[in-house]
Amino acid sequence: MDELKKRIREEGIVIDSDILKVDQFLNHQIDPVLMQHVGEAFAEAFVQSSITKVLTIESSGIAPALMTGLKLGVPVLFARKKKPLTLNTSILTTQVYSYTKKVHNSIFLEKAMINSEDRVLIIDDFLANGEAAMGLVRLIEMAGASVEGIGIVIEKSFQEGRSKLDRAGYAVYSLARISSLADHQVTFIDND
Ligand code: G4P
Ligand code: NA
Ligand code: NA
Repeated sequence: MDELKKRIREEGIVIDSDILKVDQFLNHQIDPVLMQHVGEAFAEAFVQSSITKVLTIESSGIAPALMTGLKLGVPVLFARKKKPLTLNTSILTTQVYSYTKKVHNSIFLEKAMINSEDRVLIIDDFLANGEAAMGLVRLIEMAGASVEGIGIVIEKSFQEGRSKLDRAGYAVYSLARISSLADHQVTFIDND
């Protein structure tokens, strides 16, 4: 997605060879028009998959997921990172390992929000090691629903996540694929 890659080139800040900061349009301030185009791109990629629900994880996945759900005409569900007091009925939960923080964190969904008929599209802002995406996959499978695809706004292709999801057989579609953040430079996989 050229518009996204242009914004990454112009406004992204390479923190180190592993981390890209995109607080101008995705992770702190959000550009609604860019998110609208992101949602349209994901909807176009998965329009044949008869998606019934979009699933993401709070908080930065919500904006692109919302715009995707809007375009596909389906609800947008987000996994929570803390168990809310009100979420004490029947829950689905799994542990997600954070490589950066070296801890396992639980994520939660209310069981009633998803059922075995659902055809789910996972959306997230970043794909690094794939732990969050795999956690969402497990929640969907616990519900007996099907994972129809995974849409990623920014994929760090040099980390483990993409190959892990490919190996597991999921249809991954990333709008920007970064092959390297070395030397304070963003290099995209298709090199343009
Ligand atoms: P890890 O596996 O890569 O170690 O990290 P983890 O999944 O625990 O992700 C930690 C957080 O960092 C996630 O957001 C993830 O989206 C984000 N993240 C991973 N790589 C990058 C990157 O290069 N740049 C930016 N900006 N974020 C990255 P989160 O903690 O779930 O927060 P939220 O923003 O969704 O609330
Ligand atoms: Na994030
Ligand atoms: Na995220």
